[in-house]
Amino acid sequence: MGYLLSTTENYHTKELNSLGWELTVCNALYPKNSPCRQILKNKASLGVNLYHFLKKYISFEDVRNYLEIGGGMGYLSYDFLEINSKLHATMLDISPYLLGRQKETLMKYEVNFELADVLKKEGNFFSRFDLVIMNENLGDLPALIPSGSDTTIHSEELIYYQNKAEHLSREYNLRFDDKEIINIGALTLLENVCLAGVKYIYLSEHSCEAAVPATLREFINIARAGFPEKISLKGHNEYTIKFSYLQKIAETFNYKVQSGPIADFLPLEINDKLTAILRTITPANDEQEIIQQFVYDLYKYEYLTIIK
Ligand SMILES: C[S@@+](CC[C@H](N)C(=O)[O-])C[C@H]1O[C@@H](n2cnc3c(N)ncnc32)[C@H](O)[C@@H]1O
Repeated sequence: MGYLLSTTENYHTKELNSLGWELTVCNALYPKNSPCRQILKNKASLGVNLYHFLKKYISFEDVRNYLEIGGGMGYLSYDFLEINSKLHATMLDISPYLLGRQKETLMKYEVNFELADVLKKEGNFFSRFDLVIMNENLGDLPALIPSGSDTTIHSEELIYYQNKAEHLSREYNLRFDDKEIINIGALTLLENVCLAGVKYIYLSEHSCEAAVPATLREFINIARAGFPEKISLKGHNEYTIKFSYLQKIAETFNYKVQSGPIADFLPLEINDKLTAILRTITPANDEQEIIQQFVYDLYKYEYLTIIK
């Protein structure tokens, strides 16, 4: 059984010149008049909701330097820096276009910006940070795709990641199925950050193990695939993440891990208007369609807080 390597490097370094078509939860919630804010209990951006949620687990007095990997438009960090003036941010991104957008968003703060592929960073790079944030980007990192054939051309990078998969499977007892897509970039990155001994780690991404609570199953339909699924987007493919593997890696390093859907910190204000929208089979307008997709994402996206 051979593998192919799926990467988004070329797309992010050479093609990407907008995030508009890829509406992340963070971007969807950013405009003050966003219809997505109106259906939440706390009608604020993702960064504001996340910061107040993390306060329960993270002692922010211990955090000075934090790293945000793949910060997109920079909105999450804008909120963190607005709320806590003692924080110092480093933004690392592979995309020159998005790093430029982050510079614009964060121009009133003293921030370090670094244009790099996070997987090319050595372990000691991470050890200077008290907190590492990875919001909606692990699905962009390389994945090993079973090819069903032994005649795959083995590039140096493919061999490197196949060896990595063997190492991770041995070290953390991850039992990859033969036909399973492996989130090799995400697993490698988390291992690197844990090896560096970073005290606080937060990550979120679309999950292949997400489940909807029983009370909402009549409105939201999420099939629990169990294995990473392909998501085709403009110019690249992403893969949903198998969170239980990430959790196993972090726990092997004796981190305390807490997981859940991002709806845990973006709870819905359930009322008749919202349930009517969620029940509608054919949305009547763009706003209803955006809300249906947003509510699905609140349960399809999971998070981990990983704490030493
Ligand atoms: C889907 S966007 C998410 C942006 C933002 N965090 C948000 O939630 O709106 C993915 C981000 O990860 C970055 N990214 C993808 N691959 C990367 C890599 N190998 N190293 C660093 N950044 C990467 C992209 O350029 C982009 O900023």
